[in-house]
Amino acid sequence: MLGRAIWILAVLAPTTLCSRPHPDPCALIAGERWALPSDVRRCLRSFPLLPEIKNNVIEVVNKTLPFHTSVNYQIQAPAPYDNDVHEDLHADLERISATEYTSEFDFHIDMYRSFKRVNDGHCGVYSRCYDSLYITYLPLPLVLLTDESGAQGVYIAPEAHEVAQKEFKDAVSFWVKLLPTVFEKKLRALSGLKVLLINGQEPFFAVEANANITGGYQSHATRQNSFFSSYRRGAEGWEYNLGNFASLAHPLVDDVELTVEYPDVEGGNVTFTLPYRSRFASASKNFTDGPSLRERNCLATNKTNGVDLYNIPLHQLSEFLEEPKPLALFQQQPAIAPSDYRERHHVNVLLDGSPLSDVSLPERLSPSLESINGSYSVAEFFMLNDSATGVLALGSFSAKNYTHFGQALLEGLQGLKKAGAERLIVDVSNNGGGYICIAHWLHRIIIGPKPSTHPQAGLDSTLRAGPLAQLIAQRIAKGSDPDELLYYNPSQWTNATHQPLPTHGNWLQQLGIVVNGKDDSFSQRLGQECVPFKWKAPKHGLFRPDQTVIVSNGRCGSSCSLFSITMAKKEGVRTVVIGGKQGVEQHYCGTVGGQSTDFSTIDTEIKRLNGSPRQSTKLKNHTLAPPDLLTNHIQGITWRLGYGIDNPNEPEEWQSHTADINFPLTKEIVNKPVAIWEAVAASVFKDKKPIFKFVVQESL
Ligand SMILES: *[C@@H]1O[C@H](CO)[C@@H](O)[C@H](O)[C@H]1NC(C)=O
Ligand SMILES: *[C@@H]1O[C@H](CO)[C@@H](O)[C@H](O)[C@H]1NC(C)=O
Ligand SMILES: *[C@@H]1O[C@H](CO)[C@@H](O)[C@H](O)[C@H]1NC(C)=O
Ligand SMILES: *[C@@H]1O[C@H](CO)[C@@H](O)[C@H](O)[C@H]1NC(C)=O
Ligand SMILES: *[C@@H]1O[C@H](CO)[C@@H](O)[C@H](O)[C@H]1NC(C)=O
Ligand SMILES: *[C@@H]1O[C@H](CO)[C@@H](O)[C@H](O)[C@H]1NC(C)=O
Ligand SMILES: *[C@@H]1O[C@H](CO)[C@@H](O)[C@H](O)[C@H]1NC(C)=O
Ligand SMILES: *[C@@H]1O[C@H](CO)[C@@H](O)[C@H](O)[C@H]1NC(C)=O
Ligand SMILES: *[C@@H]1O[C@H](CO)[C@@H](O)[C@H](O)[C@H]1NC(C)=O
Ligand SMILES: *[C@@H]1O[C@H](CO)[C@@H](O)[C@H](O)[C@H]1NC(C)=O
Repeated sequence: MLGRAIWILAVLAPTTLCSRPHPDPCALIAGERWALPSDVRRCLRSFPLLPEIKNNVIEVVNKTLPFHTSVNYQIQAPAPYDNDVHEDLHADLERISATEYTSEFDFHIDMYRSFKRVNDGHCGVYSRCYDSLYITYLPLPLVLLTDESGAQGVYIAPEAHEVAQKEFKDAVSFWVKLLPTVFEKKLRALSGLKVLLINGQEPFFAVEANANITGGYQSHATRQNSFFSSYRRGAEGWEYNLGNFASLAHPLVDDVELTVEYPDVEGGNVTFTLPYRSRFASASKNFTDGPSLRERNCLATNKTNGVDLYNIPLHQLSEFLEEPKPLALFQQQPAIAPSDYRERHHVNVLLDGSPLSDVSLPERLSPSLESINGSYSVAEFFMLNDSATGVLALGSFSAKNYTHFGQALLEGLQGLKKAGAERLIVDVSNNGGGYICIAHWLHRIIIGPKPSTHPQAGLDSTLRAGPLAQLIAQRIAKGSDPDELLYYNPSQWTNATHQPLPTHGNWLQQLGIVVNGKDDSFSQRLGQECVPFKWKAPKHGLFRPDQTVIVSNGRCGSSCSLFSITMAKKEGVRTVVIGGKQGVEQHYCGTVGGQSTDFSTIDTEIKRLNGSPRQSTKLKNHTLAPPDLLTNHIQGITWRLGYGIDNPNEPEEWQSHTADINFPLTKEIVNKPVAIWEAVAASVFKDKKPIFKFVVQESL
């Protein structure tokens, strides 16, 4: 009977039945600031994977990979990263190519995660359509704390309720309503509680599951640390990073069951489930339905692909170079000034599917000390109340105004000296890199002129000399880049003894090596590129290396690695990682690289088709050249690789970056920068005498 009634309904009302049961799932959430992850997923999965899109993305990615320095190394990294990096990206592309996906979203997630598995923060495939279109949150950031007995445990961050009240004002009531009555409808009651189980398992099961997919850093310890909340000095103030448990780039998790210690109840624990919620990200473009979401967020923009710089009228070239690329959202550095985009100072910076945090560190936790002159943007200087320790909190190696930034770093360090600082803490927590020459400059001014800082405070480097890269260099050698606009132009590079490369002839000679059994080739060794600096450096070092320490949560990458590694290995500066699981070797940095870049930049090197009346390499129609992307994708790569310090003939990328000291976090100091610096200073500087055997060298 029932079946027949439905059949009749279907016959009688075909239009309502056809249009109602399948409304556009994107129209359902359009215009809403918050949505359930399942609803966002339904929207994102409503776009089928068209074969031409699949082929296009795979072809671009495949043909851009020969410009990434580390593809063959990453098939099986050497010790000490042999357990951390063993991903064959070409094999992934073959597998993805042969896989059928029910949606473009699922295709993207597979591509995204495959690239994340190389644990290289420069190398990845991102989509402005899917990554952080919505950010998915839980108002319960977690921390890893050590108690008085020395035992470690996972806790809900003591500041969780403050962060949630401020950041999720319009959503807190949604979550609070769902809390068990024992918490009296207060998030505050949860802050600081010990987490016994996550989804019925030991908390570290969830930590490890995240470490498997979060990417960004080779070191297992650092990927564990990414799960937990932390702080960063941002361009506008102190920022709070919720960590991978409480903040997700994709709406793939609906809820979590937590068991927390709660002595007031029988059994001493409470188990409850709390849903995640997805918030439309501030950088995403408003939409009203599936088609408008796609049109505004998912299709290639005029910045997705490269351009023929010789086909832009000269008076428009500056304007063109000054516009940020879609890539900027995922670069782990603050926005930079248009004129600095135009000047194209070389950068080495991490990418991630989660943009830099825009959540602020609660005021109660933020430094209340007066900042010292020279503090600018991501750099803030403080004097601790021991009257001997100066602090440079440095959240990035990029800041809006490059020229001002370099000057401010010097002024701030000199300000600390003037205020009586004898020793220095540099806190680089969550510093994802930035300008390469700022890293060299900071090293140079702290340490002074020495053979280790002049002419090269950074690392020598090399770039991969794949067949298309060699063709680019050959065309440039034949004169196709007369205005010296391209990165393969030798005019901007120096050789291994720091002399300018000859501007004629092919500089990208092939130096063949075998990596993991595969023939590979790299350029000649390149030397320094930063001297003469834009700023006048003092004649003497400002701080003694044995009275300087670099502190972070391990999440210091790219140019931050260049700085920390050269300070640690060339000067003997000690490195401290705060937090971190006992018994797991902590690394003070990761993802070294040498210079990072992306598909659109490489594409600019090969644009455009034959027939252009003016110059340029005109390689775009070569069979090795990637086509233009059709979608709003971004492909990040490591373009140059720094050579090592301990082993100067192998990339630094695969050499050890074990921290000297792992400093435990307690509930009293966690996420409180000043309390951490005071504790670190009291512990690492307690020995007034130089701790290291080397002697500070006389200034040159
Ligand atoms: C996007 O939508 C939000 C909320 O509906 C609105 O406040 C905002 O102004 C819109 N932005 C644009 C660029 O239309
Ligand atoms: C990637 O390119 C290589 C040639 O450069 C080709 O052999 C391989 O089949 C391509 N892979 C995919 C998945 O298209
Ligand atoms: C993480 O990956 C390793 C290696 O693939 C696997 O053995 C382990 O089970 C994974 N852990 C979790 C929690 O998913
Ligand atoms: C939680 O309490 C129950 C009793 O209410 C007990 O059986 C269980 O073992 C406790 N769980 C944990 C993880 O302590
Ligand atoms: C690119 O598009 C943006 C807006 O979508 C526009 O403002 C800009 O002028 C365009 N640039 C070029 C070079 O076409
Ligand atoms: C900081 O700068 C101001 C203005 O230039 C100056 O008056 C002040 O003395 C400076 N303070 C220190 C500690 O150098
Ligand atoms: C300064 O020093 C005292 C004692 O040494 C300490 O208790 C206090 O918390 C410190 N920090 C600040 C920011 O006042
Ligand atoms: C950047 O800072 C320098 C030095 O302070 C200043 O001369 C220049 O005008 C600034 N540039 C911009 C774009 O604000
Ligand atoms: C670098 O270039 C200079 C000048 O051309 C040359 O004398 C020197 O031998 C070169 N160094 C290397 C390592 O090739
Ligand atoms: C590129 O185009 C030119 C002429 O338009 C042609 O001569 C050349 O063979 C093409 N190259 C390839 C690899 O298709």
